[in-house]
Amino acid sequence: MTWLVAGGGVILALVAYFLGRHQAGRAKVYQVLASLRGRLTENLAPVLRSTPVDVELSKRFERESLIHVEAFLDEQSLEEMRAEALSVADRAERTFIPLHKKGGTISYERIHYCAPRCLAFYHSKLVQNWVSAVVGEQIGPTADHDQSSLSLLVYSQAGDHINWHYDHNFYKGRHFTVLLSLVNRGRQGGASSSQFCRRTPQGDEVVSTVENNLVVFEGARCLHRATSASDGDLRIQLSMTFGTTPKIGLFKEFIRRIKDTAFYGLRVLWD
Ligand SMILES: [Fe+2]
Repeated sequence: MTWLVAGGGVILALVAYFLGRHQAGRAKVYQVLASLRGRLTENLAPVLRSTPVDVELSKRFERESLIHVEAFLDEQSLEEMRAEALSVADRAERTFIPLHKKGGTISYERIHYCAPRCLAFYHSKLVQNWVSAVVGEQIGPTADHDQSSLSLLVYSQAGDHINWHYDHNFYKGRHFTVLLSLVNRGRQGGASSSQFCRRTPQGDEVVSTVENNLVVFEGARCLHRATSASDGDLRIQLSMTFGTTPKIGLFKEFIRRIKDTAFYGLRVLWD
């Protein structure tokens, strides 16, 4: 029995040692990404068409916790970001969770290496100030190790969707989700059959995500979903989270990682 307890202790110590080493390695990776970011995004900042923020828009956000605007980017910026999204779409990690979601995702870390214009959009002060004006608080990017801080959501197969959910807030401050629609096409032309919906006291409402639409919402307050794509559809959304602080408590960090397994698999538990 003593040998069994001692053996268990040794195994636990080894697991803790290797996890600690792995975590230190990952911390180094995120430090390197952060140090490279300025160079990767140099001269790639987007040009916005939708500026400055209309006072009515921020009042609407205060009332409804969600707004959307059309034609957010100027045409050239949209074309460049769309081309980038199309060129990397087939590298998306596919996940399927019965009754919850199916689709492809390109994580924040991978975006650093393959989608610099999308990275530049997320880190653009112009974009951050625009979102801050809408939500009424100064916001910034969320944690570097949070793979959902910035991701490309790719619906390219029939049945790709995500069911009703809230974007739970794991951060110490407020937390906002921003979606920029880069590609939204059906086989017969027009938009894909996958629609972004939110639930309101008056009933379910479709929020347009035609190309170049930007949606800003407080996901912890808005129940939302994306309905199923059909065969031949292609829908690519740049999904961003911004917060009033990038800090997360230890327990909530653990829960956040469990949530992210739905998008990136089990590796996010230790990455
Ligand atoms: Fe969501």
